Amino acid sequence: MSDPVRAWHRLCDTCVLLDGFHALKHAVRFGAEVPVAVTADRRAALALADELAPDVREELDALLSEVPQETYASLVPRPHPTAVAALAVRPSREANLRTLARTPRRAPVVVLDQPRNLGNAGAVIRLAAGFGATGVVTTGTLDPWHPTVVRGGAGLHFATAVERLEVDALPPGPLFALDPEGEDIRGVKLPDDAVLAFGSERSGLSAALRARTDHLLALPMRPRVSSYNLATSVAMTLYHWSAAGGASVP
Ligand SMILES: C[S@@+](CC[C@H](N)C(=O)[O-])C[C@H]1O[C@@H](n2cnc3c(N)ncnc32)[C@H](O)[C@@H]1O
Repeated sequence: MSDPVRAWHRLCDTCVLLDGFHALKHAVRFGAEVPVAVTADRRAALALADELAPDVREELDALLSEVPQETYASLVPRPHPTAVAALAVRPSREANLRTLARTPRRAPVVVLDQPRNLGNAGAVIRLAAGFGATGVVTTGTLDPWHPTVVRGGAGLHFATAVERLEVDALPPGPLFALDPEGEDIRGVKLPDDAVLAFGSERSGLSAALRARTDHLLALPMRPRVSSYNLATSVAMTLYHWSAAGGASVP
């Protein structure tokens, strides 16, 4: 067994799987510790790096070990078209909690209150990373570091603080909860230290979250439409924050 494969087997239960070139590229860009990265086609992977990630090309060159196609396929649940996979060290809960608790804050924290859909959670983490949100907090039983969520997040869990917390331990800051029955968001400027909460796909905001809410806000919606998808609601809300001059991250 080659060294990268031995390392893979040693680390795969404790590390986060980065599935495909783009997830690895993002994770490296945002400072993830990547102890092992493999590819079935090193030349193709480095050609992608030249084209799409010249900023981290050197790091990727140093990280990627070529393994036979069958070996690569045996390490991942499903081979990715780019034939690249890596393992990254999950940031410590303590470090994430420090980031989430730090004040003053330059960008909101997104709270998903008891989300159910792993794909939605991944899409929201990708959005939060794109808008430079401070973090994404989930309440309830969904693990925001579940492999399916990490896949949906395209390696961007390392660009924002992602943790699961109890409703009574949410980060500081005024709590704006999104609900179709709220006040029209278009008349409200969201502060940079806002905590932006969204309800679950099936039942909306929990009673516990509602009890802590400072402002209930609605996204504009035509009569007779019941609600938007969770991730699109987060997208519109973060866009609303950024369009009013919310901090843009370099
Ligand atoms: C699919 S919706 C939940 C629908 C659920 N049946 C309900 O009773 O609210 C998921 C979440 O997206 C947000 N959302 C969806 N449409 C919204 C709207 N028009 N205004 C504000 N928030 C909305 C809310 O936070 C909501 O809890």
